[in-house]
Amino acid sequence: MRVVSFFAAGILVSWVLSVLGEEMMGSSPCNFPAIYNFGDSNSDTGGNSAAFYPAGPPSGETFFHQPAGRGSDGRLIIDFIAKHLRLPYLSAYLDSIGTSYRHGANFATGGARIRRFNTSFFVTGESPFSLDIQIVQFDQFKSRTSNLYKHAKKHSSRRNLPRPEDFSKALYTFDIGQNDIAASLQTMSNEQLKAVIPGIVDQLATAVEHLYQNGARTFWIHNTGPIGCLPVTQHHYHRPMPGILDQHGCVIAQNDMAKEFNRKLKSAVIKLREQLPDAAFTYVDVFAAKYKLIGNAKKQGFVDARNICCGYHEDDSHVYCGNKAKINGSEVYAGSCEDPSLYISWDGVHYTEAANHWIANHIVNGSFSDPPVPITHACHKGQSV
Ligand SMILES: *[C@@H]1O[C@H](CO)[C@@H](O)[C@H](O)[C@H]1NC(C)=O
Ligand SMILES: *[C@@H]1O[C@H](CO)[C@@H](O)[C@H](O)[C@H]1NC(C)=O
Ligand SMILES: *[C@@H]1O[C@H](CO)[C@@H](O)[C@H](O)[C@H]1NC(C)=O
Repeated sequence: MRVVSFFAAGILVSWVLSVLGEEMMGSSPCNFPAIYNFGDSNSDTGGNSAAFYPAGPPSGETFFHQPAGRGSDGRLIIDFIAKHLRLPYLSAYLDSIGTSYRHGANFATGGARIRRFNTSFFVTGESPFSLDIQIVQFDQFKSRTSNLYKHAKKHSSRRNLPRPEDFSKALYTFDIGQNDIAASLQTMSNEQLKAVIPGIVDQLATAVEHLYQNGARTFWIHNTGPIGCLPVTQHHYHRPMPGILDQHGCVIAQNDMAKEFNRKLKSAVIKLREQLPDAAFTYVDVFAAKYKLIGNAKKQGFVDARNICCGYHEDDSHVYCGNKAKINGSEVYAGSCEDPSLYISWDGVHYTEAANHWIANHIVNGSFSDPPVPITHACHKGQSV
């Protein structure tokens, strides 16, 4: 009896929500013809692999059955978003081989920050394709593809090019900032980091505004995830002092910095909404979605979030996923676990396909968004709540 009324209440609530939702946004979906994405390894679908060294095995094993330029055993959140919108998986702008850009392009590269930094990929793994460069690449992409499209003599030579009129109807997505925080955590005190965050967020807002000036109208902006919950960070805290870690083993001070970034990002999005009233901005609380998954790992069918599927990390020996190293004179190969679908973390930094799928499922319907509108309707201007 109790179960039945609880269930009925659930149905009522979702009915009310769906009616409210339709009222608020009108019922027609946006039918985005393309996605343009900007970001770091959380959404890199082959940029770094094309520019530098290709990602090696066992990455890609679950879904692509071979390395596919992604830091995961399979698909990323952006892949599941594309699938949800019935669009093909995004090709990297930097990938010149066999690519179609008809339905968008991906400018994200692993290691990228919002802020340009004076370090080298070969020394620190820092991507030279910081957000400002990704935006320059987008400008070049747009003008050159539009020009080629206009002058194409044959229908077939237009096939892999975006339709110029689609740029204003496309969905523009962002997932960047984690590396700005990660790098700063190593070189600054939390107080210093707090002081530079507004400037970092301003640069993201400037990038968004630039795209707007060039005709973009729908923006879907992920905040940054719980960096203190990445197992690779936690390995630095073998025997932590009390109060360093939260109940899920996440480093509290690091997550606090991510939250600070997110607070500033949310205010920036609200400000953009006021400044650019004919654009639609969705702020997506990816932090909350990831943290919910990490905090409910068992209930959601995963092993404890501190475990990683691929990589060998013990005491002071670290062998990263897919690498070999000699430990105590014997060779250790860091291969993947038996069943990646049980793990949240793929390699200590990146999420598994199963976790990305879970996160994507929970964000596409708008339940972690402001305004709380499904991604299929994100082109309709909503009010901040
Ligand atoms: C960047 O690196 C170069 C070469 O190491 C150095 O000459 C230059 O001063 C650096 N610039 C900044 C802004 O740190
Ligand atoms: C290497 O040796 C150390 C110290 O004897 C030991 O704790 C560790 O488990 C060994 N690692 C491997 C992979 O054998
Ligand atoms: C959104 O989707 C998730 C995952 O399927 C579900 O648990 C949640 O209840 C949905 N929320 C809304 C508001 O529809």
